[in-house]
Order: sequence, then structure tokens, then C-alpha cells
Amino acid sequence: MSTVVIVGAQWGDEGKGKLVDFCTEFADMVVRYAGGPNAGHTLVVGDDKLIVRLIPSGILRQQTRCVLAQGMVIDPAVLLSEMDELDRRGLSPATRLIVSDRAHVILPFHITIDTLRETTGKGGPRLGTTKRGIGPAYEDKAARRGLRIGELRDLSKARRLIEEMIAAWTPTMRALGAEPPDADGIVKELEPLAARIIPLIAETSSLIDDAICKRQKVMFEGAQGTLLDVDHGTYPFVTSSSASAAGACAGSGVGPTCIDSVLGIVKAYSTRVGGGPFPTELTDAIGEKLREDGAEFGSVTGRARRTGWLDLPMIRYAARVNGLSGLAVTKLDVLTGHKELKVCVAYDTPQGRTEDLPIDLLDVATPVYKTLPGFSEPLCEARSLADLPANARAYLDFLESSSGVPLAMVSVGPRRSETIVLTSPFAPHPAPGAKTSRWARSSS
Ligand code: GDP
Ligand code: IMO
Ligand code: MG
Repeated sequence: MSTVVIVGAQWGDEGKGKLVDFCTEFADMVVRYAGGPNAGHTLVVGDDKLIVRLIPSGILRQQTRCVLAQGMVIDPAVLLSEMDELDRRGLSPATRLIVSDRAHVILPFHITIDTLRETTGKGGPRLGTTKRGIGPAYEDKAARRGLRIGELRDLSKARRLIEEMIAAWTPTMRALGAEPPDADGIVKELEPLAARIIPLIAETSSLIDDAICKRQKVMFEGAQGTLLDVDHGTYPFVTSSSASAAGACAGSGVGPTCIDSVLGIVKAYSTRVGGGPFPTELTDAIGEKLREDGAEFGSVTGRARRTGWLDLPMIRYAARVNGLSGLAVTKLDVLTGHKELKVCVAYDTPQGRTEDLPIDLLDVATPVYKTLPGFSEPLCEARSLADLPANARAYLDFLESSSGVPLAMVSVGPRRSETIVLTSPFAPHPAPGAKTSRWARSSS
């Protein structure tokens, strides 16, 4: 198996960064294909912690080339500050980073518009965005007037495009109480940033294809999560990109037949940051305990994440729309200390009971729960399923059988070592004792 998509199965923050970092020990290339600095992927190595927002989570691996592909929206200032941070840590990212000439540029007024929409409430429903300019930048892309990274090579052309964008946004900005910015000022600020980014620019689709043709190990790193996908998520409370697995093809320019497997990252409970329906949300002491034990505070914005029970109809939905071939369950250790664990298995809706996710009825749907026994033992030392207490095993078994997707990995802590591997995405054969799975079989 040489090409794997890693995708969040819920509302983001499932632990994708940890799993990508873990799985890329032998990877040749990691590709971010969607989103921008709204992502916050946490990498923990020993006592060191690093949060990457634009740069792929493979960057800690010296042999791994990291691609920011054309499905992304990139804030040049954020990219360079992340690179500087990595440089300070002695990681020399510039030698391994490649930025697509077709990725779109987030400009300062995108951030202003995103922020004003959120703070004034004048831009439709308050979504609780990350205020990083994501929505407005994708709006310019869809309107076919966006500025692409490759155009940083010709700042006079970039200036013309920026003027067009400003003209198009002027009525919106005035309605939000802001004056349109001056294109010259923006170009002046871009100039030194562009000079540093230009050497990293390439046509990345062919580079990825080249790596795949050489049977190199390529990982596509999803950002956000399936339920935040603009097509498949809880619209309109979504982000503006194709966060699900299909986005890996659209956002990086490889065909679907090039993808060998899709690993879905499932947090052992649910979280959501920002607005929108969340039927299994817990606003009581149990929810607070999950937040405290799981350190559920946004890695980009610091906002407290909303917490709740695991939603199995959601995981089945994510399995279907992503074509998941394996599951990696994260943060199982956070469930330690609960007498019982509830899991949503179905929904009661005005149209009756369903085991599917009633995605457009989540506001009026009531979760139907199954209660499983909890466990009190800490799990962070577990390195095999056999090391887990029986009730933790039973929780995983129930998740695996109800989702219909084989379990591939279990994460029991933020560190690399705190991982149970059943089938490793890049291992040529299943690990000893691993279950046979559709995911594992596809490697043979
Ligand atoms: P991402 O956006 O999907 O990469 O996830 P985030 O990095 O935003 O949030 C996941 C958080 O959980 C980070 O602080 C990780 O260090 C942490 N984490 C990841 N896996 C585990 C785990 O198995 N157990 C615990 N306790 N923390 C984890
Ligand atoms: P990672 O990759 C969790 C949420 C925001 C908001 C909605 C739209 O770390 O899992 P946006 O700024 O994208 O326009 O906000 O999407 N959101 C995330 N929630 N994890 C993320 O990324 C997110 N990226 C966006 O909170 O509800
Ligand atoms: Mg995150």
C-alpha cells in the first residue's frame, strides 16, 4: 500500500496530526489537500509540542517531502511564521516544503470580512468560524477572481487581481462597517513574503503523481472533518472546503484510482468547536470532565470545545461518504473514570427511528443511546489490545462492529509511543496478530 488518505470522521480535532506524524515514520510525502490555517494539528514528541496550521504534519520527519496542494487556501504570513518556528527548532522546513502554484492566497481583507461577519452578526448565521479568512478566500476562488500562489511571482498582475477583489468586496465591507483597503498597501506587505515563498512554488500535482508512480509512500492529510465538509457536513455550519476523503483527489490533482486506502480518525467521544447542531452534546458535569480530561480547548483559537457522547450513526455516515477502509480511534484514555459510557446508536426523528445520520434533521432529532460499562484504569501504558481493560475492549469492539469498518489503530495518549497498532498504513504486511481487514488486505 503506498497512498493513504487520513480523514477526520467527526467535526475536526480528532487527532489527525498525531496519527499523521506517527504513520509517516517511513513516508516519502505528506500532502495537505484542503483548508488553510483554520486547522490546528498537534504533534507531541517527548515533552515537545508543536501545532501546525498549514504545514503538513509530516514535517518532523527529515525524509518526508511536505506538499501544500492546490485545494488549500494559504495565508503567506502564517506559512512563514510556521516555517520560522520550525527553523528555530532546527528542522529546516524549506528544504522539504513544496507549495502549489494553484493554491489560493488568503489576503488581509479576507480575515477582516470573516471577523466582521462573526462579530457583527451581519453576514448570515454566526458560524463560529476561526476568523482566519477561510470562507471569503474560498468565495473568491469560486467566483473565479482569486489570487493564486503562483501569481506572487508577478506582483503587478497580483495587484490587478487584488484590485478586482477589493472592488467586488467593497459593498460587503461597507455593510459590515469597514472601509475597503488600498491595493498598494497589500502588495507592499506581500512583497517580502512573496520573495521567501517563490522558491517553494511548484506544480505539485505532477510531483505527487511522480511519487505515486515510483511507489513511494504518500499520505494525504485531511484537515477539519467529514461533518465540516462543505458538501457532506452539517451545512451551513461547515467550513468552505472539501474536507472529506474525496477532497484529497480534487485538492491535490490525483485520480481516485490512485488512492489505496482511507483511514478515518475517530475520537472516542464527540467534540465540536463553533456553532451548529450537536445532538449528543453534554452540557453537564460529564461533558466538563471530558473537556478537562481531554484538554478540549481549540489549538487555533483556544476556544473551549463542546463535548458529547460518541455518535455511531455519524461514524457510519463518515464511513460511507469517505469509503473508510480502516478506523483509528483516538483519546480512548480520556474515557477513563466514567462509570458508564453512552453511545448514540440511532435517532428518533419526526419521520420515525433511524440508524442513519439524519443530517438535515439534527436540530429536531433525539439520540437513542446504548449504555456500556465504563472503566477506571489509566490506558496510556497499553501497547496492545490485550493490555486494555475488558470494558475498554468491549467499547472498541462495539464501535468496530457497529461501524462496519475494521479497527486499525488505537491512540491512548498524545505521544507517538502511546499508540496501539493493529495494521499500519505503510507496513507491507499486517502487524503480527493483526485482524484481517479490507484495509490490510488491499496491501497484499
Ligand atoms: P487534529 O486537528 O485532528 O490534528 O487534532 P488536534 O491536534 O486539534 O486535537 C487533538 C488533541 O488531542 C491534541 O492536543 C493532541 O495532542 C491530543 N491527542 C491526540 N491523540 C490523543 C490521545 O490518544 N489521547 C490523548 N489524551 N490526547 C490525544
Ligand atoms: P482541524 O484540522 C475543528 C470549524 C470552525 C467553525 C467552522 C467554520 O484542526 O480538525 P472556518 O474558519 O473554517 O470558516 O470555520 O469550522 N473548524 C474546525 N473545527 N477543527 C478544525 O480543524 C476546524 N477548522 C474549522 O470552528 O465551526
Ligand atoms: Mg485541530
